[in-house]
Amino acid sequence: KKQINIAIDGPAGAGKSTVAKLVAEKLSYIYIDTGAMYRSLTYKAISNGVDVNDGKALLNLLNGLEINLINKNGKQLIVVNDADVTEEIRTPAVTNQVSYVAKHSEIRREMVKRQQQLANIGGTVMDGRDIGTHVLPDAEVKVFLTASVDERARRRHEEQLAKGQQSNLEILKEEIRRRDKIDSEREVAPLVKAEDAVEINSTAMKITEVVEAILSLVNERE
Ligand code: C5P
Repeated sequence: KKQINIAIDGPAGAGKSTVAKLVAEKLSYIYIDTGAMYRSLTYKAISNGVDVNDGKALLNLLNGLEINLINKNGKQLIVVNDADVTEEIRTPAVTNQVSYVAKHSEIRREMVKRQQQLANIGGTVMDGRDIGTHVLPDAEVKVFLTASVDERARRRHEEQLAKGQQSNLEILKEEIRRRDKIDSEREVAPLVKAEDAVEINSTAMKITEVVEAILSLVNERE
């Protein structure tokens, strides 16, 4: 069977990574989490005291970073210059700064180049904000996955409580709204549905239903 590329875009907390991982598993494809790449750079910028508003300094930092997404026993590890940063890139500090890092055109240009290289052999499920519009404009299947802000915040809240972390639903809603706003209003490659993407609103759907919907889009193409 021909190995295609599947692009999944959408706002924060819509369930992209959960769904993308399951779709990749079903098809024996590779899952590529592009948000983790922006998060890795943000984490390094914070640790090295690099200003997230300084695009040139960030690019300089990024040029010295090898970011590897490694699939190990069904888990995805993020390794930057040989250090495992899987946990570190999910902290609130990184989450709240990453959208500033992702605004810079020079950073996006380099990230897009790296992402295109990862997908050039096909057989990938890539999730992010600009995959269907900029990274893989020729992806055979494009999905724009959304859900209401309340539902997305509720899911994050449950996730954090399940991990035994502190969580405040109202603060989560605020943070999600703020990140959506920066991602949707930025000048370079803003979060927007590609014209040829299929929108799936997952507010009232189960994860398995979303996965099935995407798999049937894949089947229609084959
Ligand atoms: O997907 P995740 O929430 O981990 O993405 C973190 C941030 O990285 C997003 O809020 C966005 O600012 C940025 N991002 C992006 N383009 C992508 C993936 C992520 O700008 N393709």
